[in-house]
Amino acid sequence: LCRFAARTCLVTMGASSSSHDYSLVSTFTAPTNIALIKYWGKRDLEKNTPINSSISLTLNQGDLCTTTTVVLRHDFAADKLWLNGKEKVDFLTSRQFKRHRALLALVRARATSRYVGQGEGRHLVPAEELRKCRVHIVSVNNFPTGAGMASSAAGLAALTLALADVYGVHDAFPGELTTFARQGSGSATRSLAGGLVEWKMGAALDGHDSIGVQAFSEAHWPELCLVVAVVSDKEKKVSSAEGMTRGLGTSDLLRHRASVSVPRRLEALRAAYAAKDFPTLARLTMEDSNSFHATCQDTYPPVAYMDDASRWIVDMVHKLNGELDGEGGSASASAKASASKAASGIIAAYTFDAGPNAHIITTRKHLKLVLAALLAHFPAAKQAPAAASVGGGGSGGAAAAGSAPGPLIVGCAALEELGEDASTRAATLLAGAQELCATLPPVQGRERYEGRLAKVFVTSVGGSPIKLPATAAIASATSGEPLALVPM
Ligand code: DP6
Repeated sequence: LCRFAARTCLVTMGASSSSHDYSLVSTFTAPTNIALIKYWGKRDLEKNTPINSSISLTLNQGDLCTTTTVVLRHDFAADKLWLNGKEKVDFLTSRQFKRHRALLALVRARATSRYVGQGEGRHLVPAEELRKCRVHIVSVNNFPTGAGMASSAAGLAALTLALADVYGVHDAFPGELTTFARQGSGSATRSLAGGLVEWKMGAALDGHDSIGVQAFSEAHWPELCLVVAVVSDKEKKVSSAEGMTRGLGTSDLLRHRASVSVPRRLEALRAAYAAKDFPTLARLTMEDSNSFHATCQDTYPPVAYMDDASRWIVDMVHKLNGELDGEGGSASASAKASASKAASGIIAAYTFDAGPNAHIITTRKHLKLVLAALLAHFPAAKQAPAAASVGGGGSGGAAAAGSAPGPLIVGCAALEELGEDASTRAATLLAGAQELCATLPPVQGRERYEGRLAKVFVTSVGGSPIKLPATAAIASATSGEPLALVPM
């Protein structure tokens, strides 16, 4: 973990000939992750340590990622932040950015002396001087922010690495950088590595052993696919931090989950992943998502992150797995028969974070069927939504052909067998899913969900954050402001 912690970073001499005129610039992309066993509840608010360990899949950055450039200059007057092209003028004062500031303070405190410039202009900047330098941070997501898609995880992970790079900070012990990311956002602890990543809750009061550790690399199980069904791109009303605090104060179920259910599930999930046992992995994932949302319901006043469209997807997946009858709703007559059928027939799993959007985990073999089921459950809007005509995520996209556009499919970075570029892959996938959908029996009650599914990300398990070359910076090395390529 953290092998990407940079040893070098771009050092740009500014226009002035003074030997003390310098910029340090670093750009990283970082992935989102989806927890299969959720983190919910803080042991220490300040250190942001959790009441239970958690485990997640890192998503492919070719499809979903945050890109962050940090510029450190000797003459910047203040720390500044631009998110998705907009300057956050309240960066230094707003509660919303308290954790970004805490992370910045942590990394800055650890700055080490370093050389800047080249040739005759090369000189050593002492750590004390670096600590006085302010930074400009420019960050963009290629997916909706704040809608249960772990945007904070990718954002704080990319920020941790870019800050560590410009301030010359390296792991003092394995996983130390993940403890910095954790103090930015808990789930970011798990976005500093690829594959299946565990955030070990730790026990130490200072939080040094509450770290992210890769359990399996992304190469372990390449058949896994993820489908992110976006039913809303609105920001959630109750933040994760608020939901957790309220839950810890009022829900007995939450405490039971953390101390009994989660440790048992974690152990079983590690074993299922090692054995590539999809039905067991899927079952544990769905159970843990349901258990987490049950604790939200058990919170007083209750917090609801899922909506009717989320529950529609839950039913859809259970029907696909043969655990509910085809008409959606009534359980099969014999629970026993259903359980044994389900064990062999589980082809997909849903999981929901603190938002209504579903992450559906399946295998490449069943990807087309999962997409066809989504099309069958979410009819296209009669009128095309604005988003349906444009490619998203910078990776191309395909809307359904004909007069009634379907959801926009984007992503597919890993599905090379489907075509050369992202939009060809998405179009192939959509055409196949539509063809299969036409053969499925009609779904009763689907009218209610017309046009609700605007976007579908199809992705795979991905790798760790990536340090980008100087040419890929999204901020100017002199002004520290977003470059034109950032949407304003
Ligand atoms: C439901 O990481 O957003 O996604 O530590 O307060 O930033 P903070 O919380 P955050 O919580 C994520 C909760 C979750 C489950 C998970 O990702 O494990």
